[in-house]
Amino acid sequence: MEPRLIDPFRRTISYLRVSVTDRCDFRCVYCMSENMTFLPKKELLTLEELDRMCTTFVGLGVEKLRITGGEPLVRRDVMTFFKGMTRHLESGALKELTVTTNGSQLEKFAGDLAACGVKRINVSLDTLDEKKFAKITRWGRLPQVLAGIRAAQKAGLRVKINTVALKDFNEDELFTLAHWCAEEGMDLTFIEVMPMGDLGNEDRIGQYWSLKDLRAQLETRFTTTDLSEQTGGPARYVRINETGQKIGLITPLTHNFCESCNRVRLTCTGELYMCLGQDDMADLRKPMREHADDAMLQQAIRDAILRKPKGHDFDYSRQKVDGQVIRHMSHTGG
Ligand code: GTP
Ligand code: 5AD
Ligand code: SF4
Repeated sequence: MEPRLIDPFRRTISYLRVSVTDRCDFRCVYCMSENMTFLPKKELLTLEELDRMCTTFVGLGVEKLRITGGEPLVRRDVMTFFKGMTRHLESGALKELTVTTNGSQLEKFAGDLAACGVKRINVSLDTLDEKKFAKITRWGRLPQVLAGIRAAQKAGLRVKINTVALKDFNEDELFTLAHWCAEEGMDLTFIEVMPMGDLGNEDRIGQYWSLKDLRAQLETRFTTTDLSEQTGGPARYVRINETGQKIGLITPLTHNFCESCNRVRLTCTGELYMCLGQDDMADLRKPMREHADDAMLQQAIRDAILRKPKGHDFDYSRQKVDGQVIRHMSHTGG
């Protein structure tokens, strides 16, 4: 194998997040504006291009591939891409192939994902209340997602629920969500809302509920202990001592985790973003479409990794948003 990807801060890059489409069948209010315009299809990497790109990264030591979007499962023929990646799992080069999904298409695809070697998936779900779900996603149907989650469990996939912590929206569901996940045998991770994308009139600071406050609320009923375990992602875990349940906290704002960052993100148009919270990127589609050979493509990736910044500059302190990134989360896949 080629030498691994190492950035200027001596971090080894072993995790690639790949957005396969910017489209989504929902419009979560913190993610997209209602009248979001999507890219013309010809801008997207083809399935063959996606395969080549991921294969090149695996050759450079990437061991974890997370497929994201938009909603990855709305891309037509996306299963062909997953099937292609199975060979890297079988060869042992790839340790984990996984997906972050809104769950809307899981009833249809859970079995196929499992057959491709996917073992665990992350499902985004911010509320268990049907009306609130329709409101936050603008028109999503909760029963469809719950049926998808059941299908995933039936197919033998381990499910982790991702919940964006939102002030005045799901504060009152903290214990309900935790209880439901524990009963269903699913992990639960909360995420601090990040200032990404132009949301029109939506108020970012108004949406922000810090996970420091969330944990304090948890501790009104339980005691918690910090855990040292990691999934290779950004979450830190705490255990609820009384129930044994483990809860993940993704805290880009209150506890920066950039120091141990091991990941980069490839957009559906072949741009490589070295950091979710910075605008610098390298266009990898251009050399690929100009017939770069494997060595040239590898070199373009190595050069890009040498530009990986120390971290993001997100900051909501002083009641104003600093470090806003105009790019939508659905472009880089979060
Ligand atoms: P696991 O493998 O289960 O640990 O997954 P993960 O947390 O890496 O992936 P997931 O797609 O579930 O991401 C959850 C949230 O973490 C999303 O909102 C991402 O935007 C956010 N996230 C992931 N990586 C980073 C990062 O490097 N920086 C920031 N600020 N957020 C990140
Ligand atoms: N801040 C935090 N999380 C976000 N997500 C989408 N937009 C944001 C944001 N601005 C979450 C989704 C999904 C994951 C990929 O990113 O809910 O769980
Ligand atoms: Fe779609 Fe996920 Fe964005 Fe919601 S957060 S609109 S489900 S991409």
